[in-house]
Amino acid sequence: MASDTRMAGRVALITGGGGEIGSAIAARLASAGAAVAVGDLDPAKAEATASAIRAAGGKCSGFALDVGEPSSAEAAVAKTVAAFGSLTTLVNVAAAVTPDGTAVTLALDEWEKALRINLTGAFIMCKYAIPEMTKGNNGAIVNIASQLGHLVAAGRAPYSTSKAALIAFTRVLAMDHAKDGIRANSISPGFILTDRSSKRSGGKDAARLKQGPKHLLNRTGEVEDIAAGALYLASDEARFVTATDLLIDGGYVAFKGTIGNDGRPTF
Ligand SMILES: NC(=O)c1ccc[n+]([C@@H]2O[C@H](COP(=O)([O-])OP(=O)(O)OC[C@H]3O[C@@H](n4cnc5c(N)ncnc54)[C@H](O)[C@@H]3O)[C@@H](O)[C@H]2O)c1
Repeated sequence: MASDTRMAGRVALITGGGGEIGSAIAARLASAGAAVAVGDLDPAKAEATASAIRAAGGKCSGFALDVGEPSSAEAAVAKTVAAFGSLTTLVNVAAAVTPDGTAVTLALDEWEKALRINLTGAFIMCKYAIPEMTKGNNGAIVNIASQLGHLVAAGRAPYSTSKAALIAFTRVLAMDHAKDGIRANSISPGFILTDRSSKRSGGKDAARLKQGPKHLLNRTGEVEDIAAGALYLASDEARFVTATDLLIDGGYVAFKGTIGNDGRPTF
């Protein structure tokens, strides 16, 4: 692997690590020397991420994980420690797919599922991971929030609410666990071109055209943009960074406009 050693000696557990952003983060941390455990609701996706990393010369194991189930979260932490000897870094990426709707039209269980996975899932993971992370006195938590935790979207109540709350939860984690040598930060991505995010627009090509101009940089983001931020926040390069939210959004939140066909912003 490359000579990046920023994560040498670290052991990272990544939830939703079989997904597109999660697998990019896993690969990036592994390429910087971390041993990586990848948990995902879909074990085949977790194992695909892990085997790709191993094929590239990295250390990685993949397994089934449901972040909404305390026993599954506890087992994931135990498997990580059994495989690699410790746990220093937790990256919460997992999120549920939730339908659009309003408070009137959404079913209560649709609302509760989004909150359970996107927000409570991070809480559950922290409950079991932090006691292990505390042992090394050099831990980092990175929670993947969203631009929609800043700018809410009509019809996206469960998602926007869960991500706004995840940003707040991250700050509280930072305050509660600074004494344990743990930093906690979130990342709020803009529109990152993945299958999941592109579905609403009818596929990646359509999403690129529709979503790109909403960003000041006039394009959608790539999974590597988020992986680069996650590596920074997880590593000692961010040793003086805690309780913050890193917008990796091409200027989306600041902009709130559209780039026209002439390349000029309109508001
Ligand atoms: N793609 C974007 O534009 C965008 C923008 C902002 C934020 N995000 C956030 O980034 C993260 C990843 O998004 P993505 O586009 O890569 O989606 P993705 O669907 O590729 O990845 C999500 C992964 O989470 C897993 N997952 C779902 N429920 C789970 C559970 N209960 N336990 C464990 N794993 C579970 C899924 O199986 C999937 O592999 C999400 O938190 C999403 O909200 C994405």
